[in-house]
Amino acid sequence: MTQKVVLNADVKRGIIDKNIYGQFAEHLGRCIYEGLWVGEESAIPNTFGIRNDVLGALKDLNIPVLRWPGGCFADEYHWKDGIGPKEERKRMVNTHWGGLVENNHFGTHEFMKLCELLETEPYINGNVGSGTVQEMSEWVEYMTFDGESPMANLRKKNGQEKPWKVKYFGVGNENWGCGGNMRPEYYADLYRRFQTYVRNYGDNKIFKIAGGANVDDFNWTEVMMREATPMMDGLSVHYYVHPGGFWNKGDAVRFDDYEWDISMQKAYYIEELIDRHATIMDKYDPDKRIAMIVDEWGAWYDVEPGTNPGFLYQQNTVRDAVIAGVSLNIFNNHNDRIKMANIAQMVNVIQAMVLTEGDKMLLTPTYHVFRMYSAHQDQERVALDIETDYLVVDDKRYPQVTGSASKTEAGVVTITLTNASRENTATLDLAVRGMAFGKVTGEVITSTDMRDHNTFEDLEKVAPAAFTTFEESGETLVVTLPKMSVVKLEIQPV
Ligand code: AHR
Repeated sequence: MTQKVVLNADVKRGIIDKNIYGQFAEHLGRCIYEGLWVGEESAIPNTFGIRNDVLGALKDLNIPVLRWPGGCFADEYHWKDGIGPKEERKRMVNTHWGGLVENNHFGTHEFMKLCELLETEPYINGNVGSGTVQEMSEWVEYMTFDGESPMANLRKKNGQEKPWKVKYFGVGNENWGCGGNMRPEYYADLYRRFQTYVRNYGDNKIFKIAGGANVDDFNWTEVMMREATPMMDGLSVHYYVHPGGFWNKGDAVRFDDYEWDISMQKAYYIEELIDRHATIMDKYDPDKRIAMIVDEWGAWYDVEPGTNPGFLYQQNTVRDAVIAGVSLNIFNNHNDRIKMANIAQMVNVIQAMVLTEGDKMLLTPTYHVFRMYSAHQDQERVALDIETDYLVVDDKRYPQVTGSASKTEAGVVTITLTNASRENTATLDLAVRGMAFGKVTGEVITSTDMRDHNTFEDLEKVAPAAFTTFEESGETLVVTLPKMSVVKLEIQPV
């Protein structure tokens, strides 16, 4: 049955913050070490120790913001261990993630270099769980103070004369869990205290992000908003899709029809979470000054067989492409409140953009979705109304088709669409209103088998292709989305 979509290209809905396309890189498994950082002496071609192949691939995504060093690692990380001559840096055990020895060769200076090379904004996550107010305060001073001070002098001694710009700073991570197992009332007080000493030096104005709720812990959001609204700029929320639940997540590749369906339903569930957290935020912040920051999201499965369970290394199929497409459409459509999102994680961990093995690298289906959707970054959202069919699993319904649209200043409209059905195409009557349209082009990511994924032997099993199954009929485009697909349409004005 044909489904109806109406684009009103002249109905503006506010800017889609580019930071919705943010990423997250934690000291976890092979994300930082091997995935990004190989060291200057490595045989793998690198720039200041950061591998060139991964850098090149990530640069093409226009990553606007990068969160680091965790995650759970953030509340165990002591930043002073990661500065100064590398051979003198303290070694520690990464107790949370696989018990490996962390040699601290990738620290503040290396992270800032990575951000510089990627032309991305750093988002530093400070340590509340096992850190001190002084430690957090000094980190900010070290990074951003331009003048004579103990921390600025130390930075200069370590080779960085000028301070860096640090806009985004997180005060702890998952403080209801790995970040200290706190009650929201206790964390709210700690947040108020710690953030007091996160200073603005010179013209460096810090956007302070408070640790937020786990999934549907609405009470956490309520307490944080009630107790700390004037002292925060953003409040985070974390949500992962686990098809089989947290303790038995399911395999990333070897999954069945039910697991596909439940994954789609769980991906769509984030919209309800956003609405419900936003309703609480609206109560305390009706002007929407405080941003909702989805600084961890993605599809998280069991690790690949034979890999370290603490490394969270998983493959990435066309299912992940559709989950990414659905989630990003939802974030775009909630641009009034969501100002940043950071997929977990950038390399070799959970729903990654790229996977590496020795000197080899592959791009995942999720990577291609991020590249396609990057056209929305900082563009004006325009109205896109979709009357879709609904699919049902476990008595819960979810839309077959999702979409979002934006328009550049030059009037070029980008529409991104997903089809969550593993069985059926979706034919859309897409009425184009509010613009006279010229050339239309498209790109699609899909595959014939839902388990298809890229391997180091077959790098392009799931690769983007030109999208051609659409026809113009007056002011309407008749668009046929393949099953299990993510599609981008670009409509030029006349
Ligand atoms: O992304 C992996 C982990 O998931 C993060 O370290 C933690 O914050 C979350 O529970």
